[in-house]
Amino acid sequence: MEIVVPREYVYVLGVCAASALQLVWMSAAVGAARHRAGVPYPNLFADAKEAEKDEKKHLFNCTQRVHQNTLENFPIFSTLLLIGGLEHPKASAIGGAVYLLGRFGYAIGYRTGKPEKRMLGVFGAAGLVTILYTTGSSLYQLYHGH
Ligand SMILES: *[C@@H]1O[C@H](CO)[C@@H](O)[C@H](O)[C@H]1NC(C)=O
Repeated sequence: MEIVVPREYVYVLGVCAASALQLVWMSAAVGAARHRAGVPYPNLFADAKEAEKDEKKHLFNCTQRVHQNTLENFPIFSTLLLIGGLEHPKASAIGGAVYLLGRFGYAIGYRTGKPEKRMLGVFGAAGLVTILYTTGSSLYQLYHGH
C-alpha cells in the first residue's frame, strides 16, 4: 500500500512553515529582551539579586520561558500536525493554526511580566486536541487502507 499525500496537504505545510517563523520571532524576542536587560551570555536567566531592582530582568526571564516552553512542546505539535494531516489535511491545518494563535496569546500574555497572563493563549489546547484526534484517525485509516 502506498501513502498518498493529498493536494490539500499544502495547508498543513503552510502551517508548519508558519510555526517555524513563529519560533524565529520568539528567538529574536529573547535576544532583544536580553539586550534591554543587559543579561550577559551564557546566562540562561537573569540573576535573582539584580532582578529585584530591575523589571527588565524579570521581563527577560518571562521572554526566555516563552521560547523554551514553546520549544518543549514543538516536537509534539509538529509530529501530530504532520501525521494528522495525511488523512485530514484541512482539519489538521485548522487545528495547527489555532494552536499557533494560542502560542501567540501565550507569548503576548507572558511577556507582560505577569506569568498568569500566559493563560491568554489557553484556547490553543483545542488545536492540539484536534491534531491528536486527526493523528489517531489518520494512523487507523492508513493501517486499514481506508
Ligand atoms: C530569573 O530566573 C532565574 C532562574 O529561575 C531566577 O533564579 C531569578 O530569580 C529570576 N529573575 C527574575 C528577575 O525573576
